[in-house]
Amino acid sequence: MEKNEKMFQKIFECLADSGRRPKLFEPGETLFWDDPHISKSMLENHLNPNVDGASRRTESIEKTVEHLLGASIINQGDKVLDLGCGPGLYSSRLCMHGIKVTGIDISRRSINYARKKAGEQGLSIDYICGSFFDIDYDGVFDCVQQIYGELCTFSDETRNRLLGLIHRALKDGGRFIFDVSTHNLRMSEGIKNRWYYSDGGFWRPNRHIVLEQGFGYPKQDTWLDQYTVIDEAGEIKTYRLWFHDYSLPTISQVLNNNGFEIEYVCSALDGTEYKESSDWIAVVARKV
Ligand SMILES: C[S@@+](CC[C@H](N)C(=O)[O-])C[C@H]1O[C@@H](n2cnc3c(N)ncnc32)[C@H](O)[C@@H]1O
Repeated sequence: MEKNEKMFQKIFECLADSGRRPKLFEPGETLFWDDPHISKSMLENHLNPNVDGASRRTESIEKTVEHLLGASIINQGDKVLDLGCGPGLYSSRLCMHGIKVTGIDISRRSINYARKKAGEQGLSIDYICGSFFDIDYDGVFDCVQQIYGELCTFSDETRNRLLGLIHRALKDGGRFIFDVSTHNLRMSEGIKNRWYYSDGGFWRPNRHIVLEQGFGYPKQDTWLDQYTVIDEAGEIKTYRLWFHDYSLPTISQVLNNNGFEIEYVCSALDGTEYKESSDWIAVVARKV
């Protein structure tokens, strides 16, 4: 009885707190990508060929690799560092074209999958399970890639720290290949405020309730998707997914301030022509 009372108290406190607007880039639960259950849901999502979910759909991945090689952004024999490589959907395809790839991801489940797949396909790829904030390379790579908007998920300070590590990892004149979302994507996706019950799904294997909230910080071009998950044992966790959108002028400024200059922009890394109305900006920047 006492246990139930405590549980109800915790749930009420959590619901009372749900009206509070988190501070900009206030962290939530830290175990997300590598959580034993969430990482399983994520891997299924990465491997779904038909949705733009944890990874983009297969057709888009194939077009992207074709474009990066066809437009000589990545060249035969290049050493490429794939930051947040997931299950290796780009790394493996690049390796098949003679690129020497190192892939880093924090999800053990994704890296285990990537290693197994590389073994089956006879591909020699250096897959590392760890955080890209721990990289310590000096002038090693011709290209560093970070695909599917990861750069948008950081505060300015954290982003600049990562850009510093990437800059150092690149050879002189090396390329940083990445994409960022724009305000247009946020407008088309909208802000969600809802709750739902699940018998078991993305967040938890068993019965749970999810309180999903969206917060806008328009002056900072930043958005928060917050998910409060209450499981049947009464455990409550709040996950915060932050997104800082960019425009061509704002991302150019960030790159210039961090020792890069833009070589090439499109609306997608598959080479789609850049338009101001695009949901994404795909960038190839050179270390200067
Ligand atoms: C949106 S997914 C994109 C995956 C991959 N680039 C793709 O497009 O298929 C972001 C990836 O970054 C990884 N990730 C997130 N934070 C990380 C960190 N600090 N260090 C390494 N990997 C990280 C996640 O595990 C996930 O695989």
